Amino acid sequence: MKGIVFTEFLDLVEDKFGLDVVDKIIGASTLDSNGIYTSVGTYKFSEMLQLLQHLSAHTGISIDDLLLVYAEHFFSVLEDSYPGLLATYNDPIEMISSIENHIHIEVRKIYPDAELPTFEVLEKKENSLVMIYKSSRAMHHFGLGLMNKTFEHFNSTATIALEKIKEDGTEVKFVIAKN
Ligand code: HEM
Repeated sequence: MKGIVFTEFLDLVEDKFGLDVVDKIIGASTLDSNGIYTSVGTYKFSEMLQLLQHLSAHTGISIDDLLLVYAEHFFSVLEDSYPGLLATYNDPIEMISSIENHIHIEVRKIYPDAELPTFEVLEKKENSLVMIYKSSRAMHHFGLGLMNKTFEHFNSTATIALEKIKEDGTEVKFVIAKN
């Protein structure tokens, strides 16, 4: 997992819960990095999982809800870091249906070692989209947060339903309907 995902996460935790909570969740985890991250580095996903688990235990907020809120913050990082990529699009359904064949392809050119999910488009219409998310990291709620913000970016909203195909969340169907 790319370092920018860790640095932005810990910045948000500090912002919302304070530096003592950052220290606490790092201290409670077993981290090869010792909790020291640079935005261009690459770290084990298991480190993010431990940080999320300890933050969830400390705050009583579920990991899914933490990932949802984090993704909504991360979208603004993407807007600032990759304005050109976002400017390619003028419609949220077009953008979200192009993650697999365009956006994440470009991401992989920048970060060859990025750990990305796959999104398979099952059905695409002008105002709706059905996709299958697959990833061993089960970060579907991170995807949900990014999708919510994608609609907001285009001054729109959507109703997005998640249906777990696999109980562990490694395979999830997204049913997206533009409002
Ligand atoms: C992960 C870039 C848009 C879904 C990531 C990562 C980067 C990235 C750098 C982390 C990879 C790693 O840690 O190794 C981008 C950029 C985007 C974009 C530059 C747009 C300009 C989206 C959108 C979605 C999405 C709109 C919505 C579904 C995900 C998910 C992950 C991810 C779910 C977590 C990894 C996983 O589930 O396995 N993306 N992304 N991305 N991205 Fe994107």
